[in-house]
Amino acid sequence: MSIVYLNGKYLPVEEARVSVLDRGFTFADAIYEVIPVYGGHIFRLQEHLDRLNNCLNEILIDNPFSDECWQDIFTEVLKRNQTGSDRSLYVQVSRGVSEREHLDDSDLTPTVFVMSRPVISKDYSDGVSAITHDDIRWKYCHIKATALLPSVLLKQRARQANGAIEAILIKNGYVTEGASSNVFVVRDGVAITPEKDGSVLPGVTRDLMVELLRWKGLSCEETSITETQLKAADEIWLTSSTLGVVAVVELNGAAVADGKPGKLWHKAEELYQAFKIDPSILS
Ligand SMILES: Cc1ncc(COP(=O)(O)O)c(C=O)c1O
Repeated sequence: MSIVYLNGKYLPVEEARVSVLDRGFTFADAIYEVIPVYGGHIFRLQEHLDRLNNCLNEILIDNPFSDECWQDIFTEVLKRNQTGSDRSLYVQVSRGVSEREHLDDSDLTPTVFVMSRPVISKDYSDGVSAITHDDIRWKYCHIKATALLPSVLLKQRARQANGAIEAILIKNGYVTEGASSNVFVVRDGVAITPEKDGSVLPGVTRDLMVELLRWKGLSCEETSITETQLKAADEIWLTSSTLGVVAVVELNGAAVADGKPGKLWHKAEELYQAFKIDPSILS
């Protein structure tokens, strides 16, 4: 049985209870993090803690813990759930429990929830299918908010369209990101990903990929990508903590280039796997 952390206690998931008046439940007034754990090591911990802290700041919730306290909680949750296999940590912080009023001026205590589960790894080495879709989300996509209904609907549309795993989102003619991933395209040997301008989540895997490519001397630019450029790209990749870096080989039912993962993707994947084994390669 999985052991979770909830508001200061470690307990079986079946016994973990949150009030129906929790603002995470009534208003989705909450943010979250997903952090991979490979071979018992928490991957890019500081980067995930920094984003958690930024998101809390953005929604005006005081971070309930120091980085050290967060790390202690993560370590304890992992210890109580046997860390043998690759796992992920899920962290959620809501503003707390209050009457159902949009604004509550009382001093609320945030609800803090942490769980861990094994990564269900799928073999995407031959690439995946994606669709394009209008970006139907709100404007503050740099905040990792739990209000994920648009993303859920977008994922459903992708699956219904042609068994695709992701919807690549288009806003005013430009690519933003996937419903739950960041997007790279390759044009003339240059990897390009949209800038972090608030219309995308500052993905930890995205940032790592940019760093790894540049470290290896490969060209990588952070700049805008039009829908036309996406559709004419030599390669398309998706990045996220749960996917790593995967190649999109089919877009809206049509092959991307020759319909196989591209040359640069193979290098990106190799770099990512090497970093997973030995993060010190970047230092
Ligand atoms: C909208 C969105 N963009 C990008 C990402 C990738 O972020 P990360 O690499 O930090 O997992 C996610 C991850 O869930 C996401 O939901």
